Amino acid sequence: MRSFQTSVTPPKIPDFAFAFDVDGVLLRSSTPIPGASDTLRYLQKSNIPFILLTNGGGKSETERVANLAESLGVELDTGMFVQSHTPFAEMKEYHDKTVLVMGGDYDKCQTVAGEHYGFQNVVTPGDIFCAYPDIWPFAKVFTDYYKSFAKPLPKSINPASLQDSLKIDAIFVYSDPRDWALDSTILLDLLLSRSGYLGTLSPKNGDSSLPNRGYQQDSQPKLYYSNPDLWWAASYHLNRLGQGGFRESFNGLWNAVTKGAELEHTIIGKPYQLTYEFAEKRLRRHRKQLFGQVGLNDPLRKVYMVGDNTESDIRGANNYQSPHGSEWKSILVKTGVHKDGTEPSCKPTVIVDDVQAAVQWAIKDAEKTR
Ligand code: G3P
Ligand code: MG
Repeated sequence: MRSFQTSVTPPKIPDFAFAFDVDGVLLRSSTPIPGASDTLRYLQKSNIPFILLTNGGGKSETERVANLAESLGVELDTGMFVQSHTPFAEMKEYHDKTVLVMGGDYDKCQTVAGEHYGFQNVVTPGDIFCAYPDIWPFAKVFTDYYKSFAKPLPKSINPASLQDSLKIDAIFVYSDPRDWALDSTILLDLLLSRSGYLGTLSPKNGDSSLPNRGYQQDSQPKLYYSNPDLWWAASYHLNRLGQGGFRESFNGLWNAVTKGAELEHTIIGKPYQLTYEFAEKRLRRHRKQLFGQVGLNDPLRKVYMVGDNTESDIRGANNYQSPHGSEWKSILVKTGVHKDGTEPSCKPTVIVDDVQAAVQWAIKDAEKTR
């Protein structure tokens, strides 16, 4: 294995840092990509700050960082880690509301939202199915799975007396849904409901005298996706569908049911500005922790975003407007979604073989442009 070589000695407090994507750059599922561990160790030994910025999710930051540290054999902490749903923790306006959380294994995302992010009433599609199996009869084959983690609902479905009926105030897709059918059914029911009361239908749906032909015009719950990725690089040799696959398939359903009405929703994650701003804040705080009170004399001029997905990692870094004035450069590797020899849909600063080559290129670039 190539050990990490570079002829450049970085300054005491480098004016540059790194943001590393995870899947397809450091890992394929939980298997380290050759050179990844060495590269992170070299950066830590050289006091060059970095964070991990992933569109993955589905468990708490603490658990994910522990898994990553173990897989990569490198010390990591949550202060240098951002996953797709981490910014949801800041949405305090829903902390005392009832929210539906979708995606991930078992009730892991429910636990993240509740125990780690402070959301007080978190419901999952599994909770709803176990209380009302007829809501999607075909999920009966998964009853044992859902029963293994489902929790009682805060309120029953009671269309006859809404004040005692289950009302969902917002819908969050935290990670890739496992059961697209049940999740799509409940999502559709809520977006067609009266104000989020499950088991009701809004009389405004299809009313052409209203905006969007009456769809989502009856204070239905807001919809938030944490990750736009259509494809991601897992252990299989071909790219696999990501959370974006679920979103696109649901859009198809919505179009069929509403005959093409708009579907208002919010997506965070890479490539969106909100996620990059959140990540830069975390990187700057981590840098302060590394070097103590770094002042104006040690500005962070450059951040090198190393990614395998042109639509999220590269487009995000290229479009990112840093409120702190740092310049983000995008480095595309060939170990993940992007296939060597294909034209990237968004032009990176440079294309290199892997994460090790990415860091070697960046250190030279930082030296050159100091
Ligand atoms: O579900 C994870 C996938 O969408 C991509 O993760 O680490 O490559 O941003 P990552
Ligand atoms: Mg990736």
